[in-house]
Amino acid sequence: QTIIITDKYQMRTWARTMRSLSNTIALVPTMGFLHDGHLSLIQEAHNHSQLVVVSIYVNPSQFAPSEDLSTYPSDFDGDIRKLMDVPGGVDVVFHPHNLYDYGVESAMDCAGMPDVSCLEESGSGHETWVRVERLEKGMCGRSRPVFFRGVATVVAKLFNIVDPDVAVFGKKDYQQWRIIRRMVRDLDFSINVVGFEIVRDADGLAMSSRNCKAYWLYPKSAAERGELNCKRLKNLVADEIQEAGGELDYAEIVEQESLEVMEEIKSPVVILIAAWFGKVRLIDNIEINI
Ligand code: PAJ
Repeated sequence: QTIIITDKYQMRTWARTMRSLSNTIALVPTMGFLHDGHLSLIQEAHNHSQLVVVSIYVNPSQFAPSEDLSTYPSDFDGDIRKLMDVPGGVDVVFHPHNLYDYGVESAMDCAGMPDVSCLEESGSGHETWVRVERLEKGMCGRSRPVFFRGVATVVAKLFNIVDPDVAVFGKKDYQQWRIIRRMVRDLDFSINVVGFEIVRDADGLAMSSRNCKAYWLYPKSAAERGELNCKRLKNLVADEIQEAGGELDYAEIVEQESLEVMEEIKSPVVILIAAWFGKVRLIDNIEINI
């Protein structure tokens, strides 16, 4: 039976109760509008714990004012239907309304009792941010400067509310996955962060990347045939994207863990790609284990 919880205190109470009964909990954070990529993370979560919580929350703090938060797609009823069909099911769907509304709490902090003027003064504003300083800088962080700050912060909040043993992320968002792993290590969260392989359709396209070709195909096979110069490999990506009528945002070849930009492939790397097709920005990546 799936329980839908919208209140963070109720979420925490459920998690504490379950843990006190010796259950382990896995969390799969999402922003909803679920597809097979998301659903495979949930199946993977079952391999790591007894209970699975899926959060569905479109996190406002990872959108810049220029990016339209209001047009982010959502279909909560459809999501619930899809979750019902996942083998093993889902124990809790955590669907909070607003994780940045501290209304009564912030007032309590000031005076010990709710007080409107105090609320206005302190705002219910949020001012604490998690930054993973070096890893958040390049690639998606360059084109979207507040993005990873928002992601790391909301994931830290979800970790504190759900208190999971395991959290499962997709390697489709490679930089995000590395950032969360580093945050967990640096801040001593006792959570095992699992990275799950990219779920692709029959043409090799990362799920959700409609109208997109697998732009890493040529550079990957070129690298495997011995072309180890990153500039030339990146040019292959750029040419293909241009031919397809897209605009390259970035193509980088980086070391897998440090995300350090490489000039020559000497050890395992990942090719990270982002491109604009009209108003849609698509990302993809592929690990090359040479
Ligand atoms: P969202 O884009 O909904 O993605 C939720 C999770 O699904 C992420 O870990 C993402 O990497 C994974 N995912 C998406 N497409 C995938 C695919 N084709 N194969 C494998 N995994 C895939 O990423 C976010 O939400 C947010 O930034 C979030 C972490 C929830 C914080 O707000």
